[in-house]
Amino acid sequence: MTARILPATDDAIAKAGRLLAAGELVALPTETVYGLGADATNGAAVAAIFAAKKRPRFNPLIAHVATVAAARAIAQLDDRAERLAEALWPGPLTLVLKRAPDGPIADLTAAGLDTLAVRLPAHPVARAIIEAAGRPIAAPSANRSGKVSPTRAEDVAAELGQRVALIVDAGPCAVGLESTIVDLSGPTARLLRPGGTDRAAIEILIGPLAGKDEAQGITAPGMMKSHYAPALPVRLDAETAATDEALLAFGPTVPPGAAATLNLSPRGDLAQAAANLFVMLRALDRPDYRSIAVMPIPATGLGEAINDRLQRAAAPRQG
Ligand code: TXA
Ligand code: MG
Repeated sequence: MTARILPATDDAIAKAGRLLAAGELVALPTETVYGLGADATNGAAVAAIFAAKKRPRFNPLIAHVATVAAARAIAQLDDRAERLAEALWPGPLTLVLKRAPDGPIADLTAAGLDTLAVRLPAHPVARAIIEAAGRPIAAPSANRSGKVSPTRAEDVAAELGQRVALIVDAGPCAVGLESTIVDLSGPTARLLRPGGTDRAAIEILIGPLAGKDEAQGITAPGMMKSHYAPALPVRLDAETAATDEALLAFGPTVPPGAAATLNLSPRGDLAQAAANLFVMLRALDRPDYRSIAVMPIPATGLGEAINDRLQRAAAPRQG
């Protein structure tokens, strides 16, 4: 089976909703990256996500909802969560919350944890598909485990086209990297993954975010050192490029001499760089080059998430 790619018309959205409700996998656009969606209340459907992605073990998934009321039906939103939801949802922010007791979410979605990651995406097509399905949708990024997240429908088709019933195409993702994940399941708010929502936008509402609690030891795939990995080695903070290297540039001043160069943002804009990051990493990841050299990128604002993904792409490979 090669999946059909349909543009995001009302018909395609309705069809996606029917397929999801029937337990099928559907790839759907969000503002961050494309997701591999399944009915979050259907354990068998969720199991198909793990099989399609070849995730090495069952790691918890994000449950996507179309309204804050739907979030409250599956998880417990405390005062901090309500404040973040009010100000930053819909948007590229995922909250890890205590699961609602006796909620409808399949245990496998949460990997058996008593917490649940919940996100209300900003992309109108994502919300329309969730509404059409009539239930929360579990959706990891629609890539094989350990690979770069897809920001275009054709990237999904190349990696998972055989494994999904339908890919809904709404063009390239505007944010281009995954949601920020904040853990509110305990008294200390923690930043588990920097992403499309600035740390500062969160901290102004609920105070400073602590780092990950390493002792907690959830080996979340997006949190492993080597993740988002292209096939080629990645060299960071490159000020020059060799003639057999591909150069991922940033800003107006680009060193000459690389075999190929793509510029994340010639004007040095971090939002533009985030939107281009995964597409350009994919484009440069060709056997013609020895490695991908990446110019330094400031760590402010969205730069925190960009540098996080680049460090993972450059980390020694696992398995
Ligand atoms: O932007 C995004 O968040 C995209 C789009 C499709 O919404 N989704 C995404 O999902 O990036 P995924 O599965 O690739 O990354 C979700 C991360 C994983 O690292 C997972 O382990 C972690 O969230 N996670 C999920 N539930 C968790 C929980 N209860 N506690 C801690 N981490 C959790
Ligand atoms: Mg992922």
